[in-house]
Amino acid sequence: MKVSALAENLRGSEIIKIAGEINELKRQGQNIANLTIGDYDSNIYPIPAELKQGIVDAYADNQTNYPPADGVLLLRESVSVFLNKRLGLDYKPNQILISGGSRPLIYSTYLAVVDEGDKVVFPAPSWNNNHYCDLLKAEGVMVQTKPENNFMPTADELRPHIKGAALLALCSPLNPTGTMFHKKDLEEICDMVIAENKTRIADQKPLYFLYDQIYSQLTFGDNQHFDPVTLRPELKDYVIFIDGASKCFAATGVRVGWGFGPAGVIDNMKAIVGHMGAWSPKAEQVAMAKYIVEDDKVNGYLDTLKSRVQASLNALHNGFQELKADGFNVDSIAPMGAIYLTLKIDYSSKTTPDGTVLKDSADINFYLIKEAKIAFVPFSAFGTDDSVNWFRASVGACTLEDIEQAIPRIRVALSKLV
Ligand SMILES: Cc1ncc(COP(=O)(O)O)c(C=O)c1O
Repeated sequence: MKVSALAENLRGSEIIKIAGEINELKRQGQNIANLTIGDYDSNIYPIPAELKQGIVDAYADNQTNYPPADGVLLLRESVSVFLNKRLGLDYKPNQILISGGSRPLIYSTYLAVVDEGDKVVFPAPSWNNNHYCDLLKAEGVMVQTKPENNFMPTADELRPHIKGAALLALCSPLNPTGTMFHKKDLEEICDMVIAENKTRIADQKPLYFLYDQIYSQLTFGDNQHFDPVTLRPELKDYVIFIDGASKCFAATGVRVGWGFGPAGVIDNMKAIVGHMGAWSPKAEQVAMAKYIVEDDKVNGYLDTLKSRVQASLNALHNGFQELKADGFNVDSIAPMGAIYLTLKIDYSSKTTPDGTVLKDSADINFYLIKEAKIAFVPFSAFGTDDSVNWFRASVGACTLEDIEQAIPRIRVALSKLV
């Protein structure tokens, strides 16, 4: 049956294809360590107990009608306090928009500032910008980043593409890498945006800057989260922040996101989110409003979540470093934030025991799924070339033991390749 050209041309998620393979093996009774999905297993990582109770209480209190289009005022006030206390950012409730998780905020940012054919600049690897460009019929410019920069983009890499662009879309801590901007690198990017905007005349759209910091509360050790508006306050008129509860409270299914930025753009996004009906459920908003200002409870929850996630990431990182020391063609980048680890598994053109030659990162991944019972996502799913033998490992859906037990299996599987 004929559908729209847009629907016909939309690309499905690579990750879903990998999930299909894993599910088939699971159906056959195999136990696969699934490090593919950017989610939590909620039996391993439940949401905060007080948040859960708050949601139950809000339903008992019949908080079940339409929420206000920009979100429950009490939640926008709580988000304003949360941002101020935790990140030193000053945003008033009318500069904040609540939606059903963070995705509608990203999509509505695109819809609010990008026209068909406009240029949108973003790094590869990064998460989903290519799909939003497809939806908008925008010209996505993917800037390939380098392992020596932790796969974070630099001003020098972005600069050649920025002239006339409508949107620069960046994220830190970054999905898929688990790495973050250093202060100086983000400052240089901010200065580049300021310089570009100085060249635009009055009735031209400025270069807007989408800054996705949904993992900002999940940073490890001395790694500090930086944002463009704190570093360069004059950017406040151009930066739209994407943020929310999904990742920092392991609440991906609760669906509460918050975006903030210049009131004019936020107002437009509010209308777009309204037309999509992509609001966050009202009871969840009421509960979140109460929970996120309970500092001791939030701090306690975040400390535990971060230490457990970091222990899993470190176990995988250390395991890969040991394999590397023993001569395997692997590497990993020390985890800085989020729930991800960047892994190199450089075995393309090697031959498996049954004589199959592994062509690219997708083949290596499927080999490891079958042979080592562990699944990652190749960076090619996030926009890099197939020849880039780097992968994302996401640890939220596995226990530490699952990960520790998988390392010897990877060793055996890679030893069989010639
Ligand atoms: C960088 C980034 N931004 C936004 C989102 C979307 O989050 P939500 O589940 O709140 O829509 C994700 C989810 O994986 C993400 O990784």
